[in-house]
Amino acid sequence: MVDIVFVEPSGNRVAVNINEGWSLMQGATTGGVDGILGECGGSCACATCHCYVDEDRLGELPAAGESELDMLDNVAAERRPNSRLACQIKATAALAGLVVTLPDTQE
Ligand code: FES
Repeated sequence: MVDIVFVEPSGNRVAVNINEGWSLMQGATTGGVDGILGECGGSCACATCHCYVDEDRLGELPAAGESELDMLDNVAAERRPNSRLACQIKATAALAGLVVTLPDTQE
């Protein structure tokens, strides 16, 4: 299990304990976190799992693949250098304590 801290659009911080191997999107939606939808179920086809990853730890994440980068062109909120799709990030022990901020809107 991996602890990830989500910051909801309201500023509320929610720590979610995610099964290793699950995506951060699965963990957040299962954990009832506000500000993330995951409409396509994690197939990198909706961009409603857009999130901002803690910039200081961005380098610890596997780089975004081409399909994720393409889909990031379709996010509803501002795209930033630390924008990622939460369905494309697997929870691993190395990411414990990662802070993931959710944008104001997903659609
Ligand atoms: Fe649809 Fe991530 S859940 S792109």
